[in-house]
Amino acid sequence: MTEPKTVPIGGRAAQCPFAPVAELYDTQKEDELSRVKVPSPMLGEFDAVLVTRYDDVKDVLADEGLRMGGSMPYQPGNLLSYDGPEHTKLRRMLTASFTTKRARELRPGIEAVVASSLDAVEEAGPGADLVQLFSTPIPTLVICELLGVPYTDREGFQRRTALALDFTQSREVQMEKAAEMMAYMAQLVARHRENAGDNVLGRVVREYGDQLSDEELAGIGNMLLIAGHETIANTLSSSIALLLQHPEQLAAVRDDPSVTDSAVEELLRYIAPATILPRQAAGDICVRDQEIHKGEHVVPSVLAANRDLGTADQDLDSLDVRRPAQRHLTFGFGPHQCLGQQLARMELRVALPALFTRFPTLRSAVPLDDLEYRTNALVFGVNALPVTW
Ligand code: HEM
Repeated sequence: MTEPKTVPIGGRAAQCPFAPVAELYDTQKEDELSRVKVPSPMLGEFDAVLVTRYDDVKDVLADEGLRMGGSMPYQPGNLLSYDGPEHTKLRRMLTASFTTKRARELRPGIEAVVASSLDAVEEAGPGADLVQLFSTPIPTLVICELLGVPYTDREGFQRRTALALDFTQSREVQMEKAAEMMAYMAQLVARHRENAGDNVLGRVVREYGDQLSDEELAGIGNMLLIAGHETIANTLSSSIALLLQHPEQLAAVRDDPSVTDSAVEELLRYIAPATILPRQAAGDICVRDQEIHKGEHVVPSVLAANRDLGTADQDLDSLDVRRPAQRHLTFGFGPHQCLGQQLARMELRVALPALFTRFPTLRSAVPLDDLEYRTNALVFGVNALPVTW
């Protein structure tokens, strides 16, 4: 067997972090699946089978013989910690709160949150960092609505969340803030146990409170906070950075509301913020008739699959906000497919046109080539996005 290639964990090209490295395209053409070495800042280097074709990535994500990467400790209440019937049971308790209809009902609340974040940007003036003032507060405040965090608690909630999820903070600060978040969630659960509110957590307490422990309920809250936070914040920031590089497409998003839905879908496809969705074989399995042994790691690349030229006769390497919706795997596939995808779409559909309408002359305050991207993080993003107008 040939030596495994080394592929960066995100598989993103250094000179253009929105694009996959050439090796990912090469492996799409090969008949045999590639075994690779993945240097991971978080997990250390590990060997894995790399999967890059659209159909293969779909098959892997749907395969019940593959489990979550094995890198994550078990967390009660966190859907990503569960498999099989236990996962289905817990997921069913939550799906009614994440339908397209629910996302539509949340729209006015999202519009209000977006408007207040835009006010904060305007107040800060030119040079304002959109990561700090726009992309991060929006998902935090939306989660507050979802979980029923009272207005008076929101500032503290937002501050703790920002620190707990800020990977530039020391491990100690992050751990301390994460423990504070869990303590706050436990308090919130206790309040909902006494008087269940009209929001996701309140509804779960009312309908399934007798089947779930307090720890599981707090875990559900924490999962929604984390799953719905980094992903949206990073997708918003990178969408803005990408559109600033394509002014003609930015203008279409700003001036033509009929483009909004296809633009959001195209940005999701193109950016693929959750770049890889690592799995581990729970037993011996086959992918494209090739054997993968129990315990082996499998790394499906969403970034590569979303541009798999084998599936379309279009140029999927270019960004085209007017492209009729193209299939993509940005929200995963199969049993763990993103629960919050309709909500995510709604946040993006409201936030992006509102930003460009409020600041029609928006542009980066630093040369676009100087922006620092999170290419090695599991969720791709940009560290800071100072803008002017
Ligand atoms: C652009 C934003 C988002 C992206 C790109 C995204 C992406 C994903 C992906 C790829 C998965 C599957 C993970 C895997 O199979 O390993 C996932 C799962 C999940 N997401 Fe999202 N997500 C986003 C926003 C949200 C939001 C807003 C929420 C809720 C508030 C949310 C809640 C969840 C939950 C609960 C799961 C686990 C589902 C399960 O295991 O059954 N996500 N997300």
